[in-house]
Amino acid sequence: MSTTADEPLPEHVATNRAYWDGMADEWVESGGRAWATPTGEESWGIFGFPESDIHMLPDDLAGLDAIELGCGTGYVSAWMARRGARVTAIDNSAKQLETAAELQHKHGLAFPLIHGNAERVPLPDASFDFAISEYGAVLWADPEAWIPEAARLLRPGGRLHVLTNSVIAILCAPDDENEPATDRLVRPMFGSRRIVWPGDDSVEFHPSHGDWIALFRANGFDILDLLEPQAKPGLESRFMPGGSDWGTKWPVEEIWKVAKRG
Ligand SMILES: C[S@@+](CC[C@H](N)C(=O)[O-])C[C@H]1O[C@@H](n2cnc3c(N)ncnc32)[C@H](O)[C@@H]1O
Repeated sequence: MSTTADEPLPEHVATNRAYWDGMADEWVESGGRAWATPTGEESWGIFGFPESDIHMLPDDLAGLDAIELGCGTGYVSAWMARRGARVTAIDNSAKQLETAAELQHKHGLAFPLIHGNAERVPLPDASFDFAISEYGAVLWADPEAWIPEAARLLRPGGRLHVLTNSVIAILCAPDDENEPATDRLVRPMFGSRRIVWPGDDSVEFHPSHGDWIALFRANGFDILDLLEPQAKPGLESRFMPGGSDWGTKWPVEEIWKVAKRG
């Protein structure tokens, strides 16, 4: 594992580093399960949407340079490496990367793990053909900083795919995470791009669709797709506890696919 220079971290990055170092133990088991997923059976997000439905990965990754921004335990990177990509993974939490390194060893798979902030990746311009984030930088890093950085790292034509909470889910999610979302808007959209949940020691970023479009376009991306997958009845999550059908009516998650202009 390599570590970036000891430059001062932005406040939200330092906060989230401490938060994820503290949470890392809770993600070991699910990370191990995800690492063991056979190629072709990868699934995504809270509800496990199959890769064959949502195509988070390019159909052919063989020989592509790919980076995962906020890799956590590194299972998405492992999936990409098994599909033939030359993978680099960066994460802000040394503890999460310790798990990733252990799982690399267990599965006999090696790719660089960088301990650092996805808003300032210590790699040259135009190093990658593909960048991805599933609830990583897309949620925990400042979009004003990490989107320009992703644009810098990608070659012309390179693609960026991200999966995060949907805008409407965040607008309907009560402050208390034990309470289910309802059909009521509980917070304004304006002014809610940066969210600190009450009682939580972390900082999240939830741009509106207009924010995303403006940021992608301003950083030289063409927007290819916005997917809002529908959950099947009976799936459990904060948004569908005890058989609630919220996620069958509104998207809990969203996926943006963009390409760097050539
Ligand atoms: C939920 S995990 C994402 C990994 C995996 N896809 C998953 O869903 O478990 C979130 C990860 O984002 C990382 N992260 C948060 N802020 C980051 C930043 N500024 N740069 C890089 N990684 C960051 C955290 O350290 C954490 O490991």
